[in-house]
Amino acid sequence: RPRLFSGIQPTNDSLHLGNYLGALANWVPLQAEYDAIYSVVDLHAITLPQEPAVLRHRTRVTAAQFLAAGIDPVRSIVFCQSHVPEHAELAWVLSCITGFGEASRMTQFKDKASREGTDGSGVGLFTYPILQAADILLYDADAVPVGEDQRQHLELSRDLAQRFNHRFGETFVVPRPHIVKETAKIADLQNPEKKMSKSLGGSGCLDLLDDPKASAKKIRSAVTDAGREIAFDPENKPGVSNLLTILSALSGTDVPTLVSKFEGAGYGDLKKEVAEAYLGFVEPFQARVEELMTDEQALDDILADGARRARALAAPKLAEAYDKVGFLRGR
Ligand code: TYM
Repeated sequence: RPRLFSGIQPTNDSLHLGNYLGALANWVPLQAEYDAIYSVVDLHAITLPQEPAVLRHRTRVTAAQFLAAGIDPVRSIVFCQSHVPEHAELAWVLSCITGFGEASRMTQFKDKASREGTDGSGVGLFTYPILQAADILLYDADAVPVGEDQRQHLELSRDLAQRFNHRFGETFVVPRPHIVKETAKIADLQNPEKKMSKSLGGSGCLDLLDDPKASAKKIRSAVTDAGREIAFDPENKPGVSNLLTILSALSGTDVPTLVSKFEGAGYGDLKKEVAEAYLGFVEPFQARVEELMTDEQALDDILADGARRARALAAPKLAEAYDKVGFLRGR
């Protein structure tokens, strides 16, 4: 079966609806077609400052959200990135074949570094996409399910795989992004021209573990657009179109069907239905996360098992890469 890899950073207690609809919700059905490997990428999280005790908690609660969403840790591999040292080791090798200019062109780095200031951002923030490439290439992943904001990083992963193969001989599978167009960019409810994000936060961001009543209120106060017609037109009606996208993804009803259903109805009616669909999803989701978090040992055992299985794949791949590079065999 083809292989698939993806990861999410434990940079918040709660994932937001963009992480869920853009990534996690797609991961679940892909488990049927792929040997899937899903990682809580804590090495990536420390590219920005993290409080140690908080990071530990966030790593567990992020894993719990993977499971609560329907990732099956028996069928798929669920693990924590720092438990598999090969990620950092391959990242070093790949960093040595990455151009400085090439890394400088990564737009997410530019965004984050401009927020932190050049003095405030560590070198890790700069080399982060190389670590991401290592994550993917270590497992010979064919596909990487992510949101639109990761496309450029995936392009780098492909380039590095091809460059390594060209220079040292066929070693890595060249991965392809698996981006579901409809949900690849969930917008902020207050600034629908921007993507929903952890850094923007605030009342435009739906955190899955927030009080559901507060989230329903955020949905009811979402920014809509001029006019009163409910139409799917991301260009001219970004707010309404985003609500339709969210409702479609949560309800499994396609957008055209929703549009005809809402003919003659007002924005308030649409928001009410989005809020209902969201609550219908998030309340049982929260209950599952809460349940999983009552037994930290069980959760840690799942991650330990995942790390063992991930390492069994990653270690021989790293050894192969080390060998190709010309390192003396030492282990
Ligand atoms: P991260 O943790 O920022 O986001 C996790 C996933 O959520 C998607 N996403 C969105 N999708 C749709 N609409 C949005 N508004 C939205 N916001 C976020 C992201 O595209 C991502 O799929 N670098 C990665 C983590 C990573 C990774 C990897 C991913 C590390 N190694 C290897 C794939 C493969 C990141 O920071 O994602």
